[in-house]
Amino acid sequence: MKAPLILSARLALVAATALCFSATGFAAEVAENWNKHCASCHAKDGSGSTKMGKKLSVKDYRDAKAQEGFTDDAALKAIKEGAKDSAGKETMKPFAEKLSDDEAKALVAYVRSLKAK
Ligand code: HEC
Repeated sequence: MKAPLILSARLALVAATALCFSATGFAAEVAENWNKHCASCHAKDGSGSTKMGKKLSVKDYRDAKAQEGFTDDAALKAIKEGAKDSAGKETMKPFAEKLSDDEAKALVAYVRSLKAK
């Protein structure tokens, strides 16, 4: 009798998360975080066409291929722990102290939403 219980608990969690996002104005907040913490390199539209973005050669996240280049987990890890180039030099600083878990996860979804339709 354990499986159905776990399943319904998961469903409740999904429902609660959805409710939470809509209740706190998810879209506005995550966009705010993106513009504040990320757009200096990645650009508001995710293209990476900023001075810093070009210098660090960030990818164009509007491009489907660039989006396929990383998993949600890798994106979350990059946001929390930062990113390094092939020489091991830090290019993107870690945001684990600035952003909560939920904010970081919301940003992963936000990055995905930047993909050109
Ligand atoms: C100082 C510039 C800079 C800032 C600020 C920055 N990034 Fe990055 N980010 C980079 C660079 C450089 C890379 C590695 C190259 C790439 O994948 O485009 C990267 C990679 C990523 C990746 C891909 C990770 C992977 O595994 O390929 C994601 C997702 C990402 N950043 C999201 C964010 C988010 C969200 C923020 C804001 C919280 C942010 N970045 C802030 C420079 C930055």
